[in-house]
Amino acid sequence: MAVIVLLALICFIGVFPLNGCPIKNGLQDFHMGTFDKIAKEVAGYSDVAQKIIDLAVNGKAQNRSYERLANFTDTVGSRLSGSKNLDSAIQYMYNALKQDGLENVHLEPVKIPHWVRGEEFAMMLEPRNHTLSILGLGSSIGTPKEGITAGVLVVHSFDELHKRAREAKGKIVVFNQPFVSYGETVTYRALGASEAAKVGAVASLIRSITPFSINSPHTGWQDYQPNVPKIPTACITIEDAEMMARMAHRGKKIVIHLKMAAKTFPDADSFNTVAEIIGSKYPEQVVLISGHLDSWDVGQGAMDDGGGALISWEALSLIKDLGLRPKRTLRMVMWTGEEQGGIGANQYYNLHKVNISNFDLVMESDTGTFTPLGIEFTGNGESRAIMKEVMKLLQPINVTELADRGEGTDINMWMEAGVPGASLHVDSSRYFYFHHSDGDTVTVQNPIQMNLCSAVWAVVSYVVADLEEMLPR
Ligand SMILES: *[C@@H]1O[C@H](CO)[C@@H](O)[C@H](O)[C@H]1NC(C)=O
Ligand SMILES: *[C@@H]1O[C@H](CO)[C@@H](O)[C@H](O)[C@H]1NC(C)=O
Ligand SMILES: *[C@@H]1O[C@H](CO)[C@@H](O)[C@H](O)[C@H]1NC(C)=O
Ligand SMILES: *[C@@H]1O[C@H](CO)[C@@H](O)[C@H](O)[C@H]1NC(C)=O
Ligand SMILES: *[C@@H]1O[C@H](CO)[C@@H](O)[C@H](O)[C@H]1NC(C)=O
Ligand SMILES: [Zn+2]
Repeated sequence: MAVIVLLALICFIGVFPLNGCPIKNGLQDFHMGTFDKIAKEVAGYSDVAQKIIDLAVNGKAQNRSYERLANFTDTVGSRLSGSKNLDSAIQYMYNALKQDGLENVHLEPVKIPHWVRGEEFAMMLEPRNHTLSILGLGSSIGTPKEGITAGVLVVHSFDELHKRAREAKGKIVVFNQPFVSYGETVTYRALGASEAAKVGAVASLIRSITPFSINSPHTGWQDYQPNVPKIPTACITIEDAEMMARMAHRGKKIVIHLKMAAKTFPDADSFNTVAEIIGSKYPEQVVLISGHLDSWDVGQGAMDDGGGALISWEALSLIKDLGLRPKRTLRMVMWTGEEQGGIGANQYYNLHKVNISNFDLVMESDTGTFTPLGIEFTGNGESRAIMKEVMKLLQPINVTELADRGEGTDINMWMEAGVPGASLHVDSSRYFYFHHSDGDTVTVQNPIQMNLCSAVWAVVSYVVADLEEMLPR
């Protein structure tokens, strides 16, 4: 195994291309001749790529994805799973995609969670009165009608919670964990309530998962563990979490009154929204390009993930406007129920995986549509070498990076099953400032950055969909 990997590295990353390298995945002839041919084929798209870039960045489509995003999110607002707003959003998009003249516009039914926040309120009563800015976490239960009033145990980690387990009984546990990275720190949001409940807490408040705050709570999904009592849980701000930690350190007794009317209803009907440009030569083969249409119920969901959905639509519009039709079908999907754990995308995968051998490349943009740097890609050495050539077509806008690890809740299962996957690689340094908060609005977005993102998305998806061969896997 290790030997094969090493050879592959020498072949594709080192002095590529080398004649006679043994190729994994059975593509025995991906030697110098084959790769040169594909590289030449890709380079032949430089004129087309330039046309797409011109149209998106300087031409008639300048700022179109941004204007559409603003129109859409200002009109519909936030789009929580199971909400009327999400229904309106899907209807809006269905009509807009039809009006845009895209092909095979249709909705695919999906059942999604239906959690409603309801009224919520938290007040620190001791050592002094102070209103806490909170947002209940997705799937949380509510409190009794009269609320919960209890003393507070502040901890900084699960380790500290376990060490002080005997102090937690009957308390509201406040987690003041430092922000390391979203991927690592989000464990506290996902599991904090159940961990606190295991040691007898009556509620848990989680410091928001963000590196930056102007007293902003950032919500998100949480998971109750099986066979653990369910307790109400919400996020609080960095500022309040740190203040309570300081107070506790000084030996002050802290008491909080928490009231939440959160409630879960039976799963709701929803849809993944689909539009295509049907392939001219291999219509059954698919390059899938996507973002998610649902959001949290705060802000406008403009960044997460209105931007990703809108540049995916824009990519199809650009290709259509230029009168281009790739050999393979270019399929755009706007997923539903992503925030609850990729619910729409999982159901799509289960339904369509029967055709997995026809899925050439799956793409998702869900870490913001800020200044693009390139693409994050998952695939074998051969397909990576081809994608490197594709990215060279974006030299005119200097967006040529081919990073590791394509990612996206909505495309992961395809990649795990061996389908090459790509995510938009952007300067996401500010992404978590706004993520899942009231700050996620169109104001965060920039039309010029979105033009560039749209160009990258359109060039990559079009060229891969039009190459004579599917990407090796
Ligand atoms: C696109 O947006 C930029 C930045 O706001 C602005 O300078 C430019 O005039 C806009 N172009 C069009 C066609 O509206
Ligand atoms: C906003 O979107 C609606 C619905 O798609 C459309 O009818 C309207 O023309 C759009 N407005 C602008 C200014 O683009
Ligand atoms: C603190 O808030 C409680 C509950 O709203 C109220 O009854 C009490 O009077 C307040 N105390 C002070 C000192 O304002
Ligand atoms: C699988 O692909 C075939 C050929 O394109 C198509 O007719 C069929 O509807 C697809 N099935 C699913 C479940 O997508
Ligand atoms: C091109 O992008 C890279 C980073 O992606 C940056 O370091 C470099 O300065 C850029 N070059 C130009 C000419 O903008
Ligand atoms: Zn998202």
